Amino acid sequence: MNMETNKIFAALLVAGIIAMLGGFISSLAMHPHELEEAAYEIEAAEDGAGGGHEASPAETGPESITDLMASADIERGKKLSRACMTCHTMDQGGESRQGPPLWGVAGRSVASIGGFAYSDAMKSFGGKWDVENLNHFLWNPKKTVSGTKMNYRGVKKPEDRAALVAFLKSLK
Ligand code: HEC
Repeated sequence: MNMETNKIFAALLVAGIIAMLGGFISSLAMHPHELEEAAYEIEAAEDGAGGGHEASPAETGPESITDLMASADIERGKKLSRACMTCHTMDQGGESRQGPPLWGVAGRSVASIGGFAYSDAMKSFGGKWDVENLNHFLWNPKKTVSGTKMNYRGVKKPEDRAALVAFLKSLK
């Protein structure tokens, strides 16, 4: 081999190395992007599955509102109670509608309004409407009193349930 062919050979070799390095660098640059995409897909899948965060309280029951009661917003509870008023009266001496009157319901025995046709499920639930029972019932009526005829899907946010319960307690 003479000097000329050596130089050409060396040049080709260098070009090859540069090409290889180029491929390597660009594959390094590609990878973080692919990882980002994969991470995004996992997050999207978790969100889409109805929310891993929502699923667990639905299985175990509602969050306690005991600690929230001290700072519960009665005015907000009053606003939220409009959702109940299609079926319940809230004022003193109020009549039954589709549901029994809610004046004085806090602390009242469950299913105790004479003349109201409670479901068998409600009649056999027993106990009183204390904070704990109201929290459970308002969270998910059909899960708490399985077979209730209260056709309402429930109040998901603990702050909202605390506000509603505080408002119900003020009806006396
Ligand atoms: C679609 C109508 C409807 C809506 C809306 C509704 N309820 Fe009721 N509610 C009923 C019926 C009907 C009953 C009786 C259930 C039974 O006998 O199983 C009931 C029962 C109750 C009871 C038990 C009362 C008792 O005397 O033992 C409470 C407490 C109550 N509802 C609170 C609420 C609150 C608070 C809201 C609003 C967040 C609400 N309800 C929304 C229809 C409704």
